[in-house]
Amino acid sequence: MRQLFARVNVDTQIASGAEGGLRRVLGKWDLTALGVGAIIGAGIFASTGEAIAGGTDHIGAGPAIVLSYVLTAIACGFAALCYAEFAAMVPVAGSAYTYAYAALGEIVAWIIGWDLIIEYAIGNVYVAISWSSYFCGLLKVFGLELPGWLTNGYMAARNAAEAVAAGSTAPDKLLAAAALHDAPRIFGIPILINLPAVAIVAAITWLLVRGVRESARSNFWMVVLKLAIIVAFLITAAFYIDPANWSAHGGFAPNGLKGISSAAAIIFFAYIGFDAVSTASEEARDPRRDMPFGIIASLVICTVLYIVVALVLTGAAPWTEVGTPDPLLTVLERAGQHGFLLKTAQLFVALGAVIAMSSVLLVFQLGQPRIFFSMARDGLLPPLATRIHPRYQTPHITTIITGVVVAGLSAVMDPDDALVLTNIGTLFAFVLVAIGVIVLRYREPDRRRPFRVPGSPITPALAVVSCVYLMVELPLTTWIRFGVWLAIGLALYFVYGFKHSKLRTQR
Ligand code: ALA
Repeated sequence: MRQLFARVNVDTQIASGAEGGLRRVLGKWDLTALGVGAIIGAGIFASTGEAIAGGTDHIGAGPAIVLSYVLTAIACGFAALCYAEFAAMVPVAGSAYTYAYAALGEIVAWIIGWDLIIEYAIGNVYVAISWSSYFCGLLKVFGLELPGWLTNGYMAARNAAEAVAAGSTAPDKLLAAAALHDAPRIFGIPILINLPAVAIVAAITWLLVRGVRESARSNFWMVVLKLAIIVAFLITAAFYIDPANWSAHGGFAPNGLKGISSAAAIIFFAYIGFDAVSTASEEARDPRRDMPFGIIASLVICTVLYIVVALVLTGAAPWTEVGTPDPLLTVLERAGQHGFLLKTAQLFVALGAVIAMSSVLLVFQLGQPRIFFSMARDGLLPPLATRIHPRYQTPHITTIITGVVVAGLSAVMDPDDALVLTNIGTLFAFVLVAIGVIVLRYREPDRRRPFRVPGSPITPALAVVSCVYLMVELPLTTWIRFGVWLAIGLALYFVYGFKHSKLRTQR
């Protein structure tokens, strides 16, 4: 039993990070930009619509979505403080996986590493499918349209058809159901794939294999562009705000606390990414001081922005009408169809969303092979995952495996399923990191902590409680799928990792 919970020494970890030889070039604002780059994406551009209006297995918050954003920001804030304490104390790449290895022992580290596949890979499935929605919106501005069977995955269309049969009249569900009906068939099997989603994942994978990395500089400009486009949207849509929209159709909070909480569990996705800052620890100039700054500042900036977007979205259109996969475009379309300025605004928002989501895809598609790499370096995954391409110097094998899996799932999966699975997986990682802070304070009270979570152990305990609260709001099917995923992970650990772990074999 003790072997299962063997812990890696924090100083050994720091030393192995120092050997990595990555250049320490990132300052505190670079780290903040990295966080904002990873955070703003499909969550705000896509999932907000359904969180406001409700979906097949959850009710919407209505205009009270603003409170959902506040609620989730509080939960993420507690978690961010915990990440900040670890990132400053153990400034090596690997994020939550590395922290768990130091604080809670090997088996928990394995579980987190396995769980992070959900955050990074399944999260990207949702982003890729949302990218496809906005990309199609962009094509539409130019009068181009792809057939429904090439823009809807099979499972998405099948679930949409069930929802329509059950009475849903959401426009995207009607379209997806129609696509299922009209799809070409081979031996009676309908063929439906989300081609743009597959194409963007393939393109990003190719870039990453070739070694095109987001440099801090290009990321910085990407973030400036994202922010500029959101501000442009806010200014345009603000002209159409009618305060009556905040109280029409059942009032400000039509579904009460239940609606606010279940929407909070969905839009949690929009906040994912501040934790990804911690994967850049080995490239930070002064990680002890700047990591906590980058993690917390990026979260604060996005929180403020999200709350304003939520206010404008629900003010510029009745909340019952924004439940689409591209709510920002829906609001603009609804505001007035013909004006040249509005057409231009739509074009910019669609383009901005496509760029914003591409950069999120890049960050997470880059992060996943790194986590595999860390796990393989510790002997928990086969050494194949540590192989580096002789010419491009990239972890090409794991990059390609990640790309194939994400592209394959993006082709067929229902985005709603991908979203909630990502959220439960990420919330679980946050819970374990917060527990890790409490445990390590107790086990190694004298260790130097450049940043301390204020009010520990109450604050990390609040992180645990608030994240579990959001997890409880997620559908039962999501819990079952997540449980099955963890069970598969544990089985793999006993078949492989337990025998090959470097920590124990070296002892
Ligand atoms: N927060 C990121 C997004 O919304 C994952 O795309």
